[in-house]
Amino acid sequence: MITIIGSGRVGTSAANYMMLKELDDILLIDIIEGRPQGEALDLGHAGAILGLSVRVKGSNDYKDMEGSDLVIVTAGFPRKPGMTREELLAKNAGIIKEVAKNIKRYAPDSIVILTTNPVDAMTYVMYKELGWDRSRVIGFSGVLDAGRLAYYASLKLGISPASIVPIVLGMHGQKMYPVPRLSTVGGAPLTTLLSEDDIREIVKETVESGARITELRGYSSNFGPGAGLALMAEAVKKGYNKVFIASVVLDGEYGFRDIVGEVPIILGAGGMKKVIELPLNEEEKRGLEESLKSVRAMIDSLKEQGLA
Ligand code: 2OP
Repeated sequence: MITIIGSGRVGTSAANYMMLKELDDILLIDIIEGRPQGEALDLGHAGAILGLSVRVKGSNDYKDMEGSDLVIVTAGFPRKPGMTREELLAKNAGIIKEVAKNIKRYAPDSIVILTTNPVDAMTYVMYKELGWDRSRVIGFSGVLDAGRLAYYASLKLGISPASIVPIVLGMHGQKMYPVPRLSTVGGAPLTTLLSEDDIREIVKETVESGARITELRGYSSNFGPGAGLALMAEAVKKGYNKVFIASVVLDGEYGFRDIVGEVPIILGAGGMKKVIELPLNEEEKRGLEESLKSVRAMIDSLKEQGLA
């Protein structure tokens, strides 16, 4: 069973895509009474209409997640227009700690993937609170950032985003570090296919598109995160050992330790199998370092407040 904690827009979008893939039965958990039950009914009806063999349930009781092998955490305050992901830091750290206690109690053998922002710092809080191996605690959003890079590059190039292998490293947020030289089309780096101006534009759009969605429609993204979460869930449930960009605790990779950042990982049964270390040049190494400084600052602040 896949448990999704938080049945807001991201949680229900993830449930929808996972249901379409018939990965497993799905449990939606939320503290708001009626909400997960109502969402589960609607999703269940959609599944019946589509002829899918998946059960979707809703609950306000963490106990119902007992035995879950994959837990997706979307609970937390979302970004409001004009709000940074960092402002959510302390508020959401408290929620993550509470959620972690329940995961530890009811799904002690699970793999945990979380989306709660600021996601790198929240992944760190979850990792510390669970005390599990880092391979089982994974932050989502690299897929989103990379997907956005592929999307904008595909518009410039006039080719399918599926033919672009996009690379974004570092933190999920304004300081993310897209790497065009290592993002490729048929093996060719984007830097050899597009002008410097085009690359600058693509990078800017990639970095700003999360905030742009929020400004345009008044609430943050959910279809992108839902789609990415379903792909990651599929890789775990089916043991695909597929490569995703995701936020994980670094243990010496790229020269970092005791910090979370977006890097390419191999994901399969049991969670993260490996961090892939890319051959960064000196400028890119500095770019990644600069990006991770903001994660370090958030982790330091959480430690000062006794939250990590
Ligand atoms: C995004 O980038 C809200 O972090 C989320 O869309």
